[in-house]
Amino acid sequence: MPLSQIIAIDGPAASGKSTIGEKIAKSIGYLFFDTGLMYRAVTWAALKRLNGVQDEEAVSKLANEVEIDVQPPSISDGRTCDVLVDGQDVTWEIRRSDVEANVSQVSTYARVRYAMTAQQRKIGQRGQVVMVGRDIGTVVFPEAELKIYLDASVEERARRRYDELRLRGETINYDEILEAMQRRDRIDSNRRIAPLRPAEDSVKVKTDGMNVEQVFGKVLALVENDC
Ligand code: CDP
Repeated sequence: MPLSQIIAIDGPAASGKSTIGEKIAKSIGYLFFDTGLMYRAVTWAALKRLNGVQDEEAVSKLANEVEIDVQPPSISDGRTCDVLVDGQDVTWEIRRSDVEANVSQVSTYARVRYAMTAQQRKIGQRGQVVMVGRDIGTVVFPEAELKIYLDASVEERARRRYDELRLRGETINYDEILEAMQRRDRIDSNRRIAPLRPAEDSVKVKTDGMNVEQVFGKVLALVENDC
């Protein structure tokens, strides 16, 4: 049986979507596309050019004008791709805590979402893609043949993000990460448009206590058995 053309992976922050999505894409020769990068790129541009993200009208206009590009990695510094905003390399800057603290607000704006969703559909329509985010199975590609919803307790997810940032040499506090993650979950799950929730026909995978290899094995089995 052929594999699904579009594999949608959704879930909350640090549920492992990007790590698993990328490994799956690599192992079956599909394109990997992380939609969170786009919301982060718009947020970065708004912080830089508008001095904040509160002005919905201005942020929406910016989202429709800014050119976001995702390219294969040009440097080997741990990045998995280059993220460019109007030609400027922002790969690491979009991971910073000021972006992290504002991205969920930006993601509630309807016109920002329409702009991002249209671009994501264009990318996915070519097929053979693993696309990860919050609303891929529910809004961007409700017709995807395989939808996976990865989840874990917020404490476990905060621990993973803490370890990840520490490895990158950042000085951080676990409680602050936990609090920021709870806040982001709240905004993402309660927004009016495209809230974070599993699609009804998604396969839910709870990853507490599982390492990357175990989650990968489970998801790969779903991909290979899907038809
Ligand atoms: O890596 P992490 O899970 O922490 O975040 P991300 O996937 O990079 O997404 C950052 C933020 O973008 C999320 O908290 C959402 O507010 C937003 N987002 C969204 O609304 N819809 C998507 N399809 C992807 C991300």
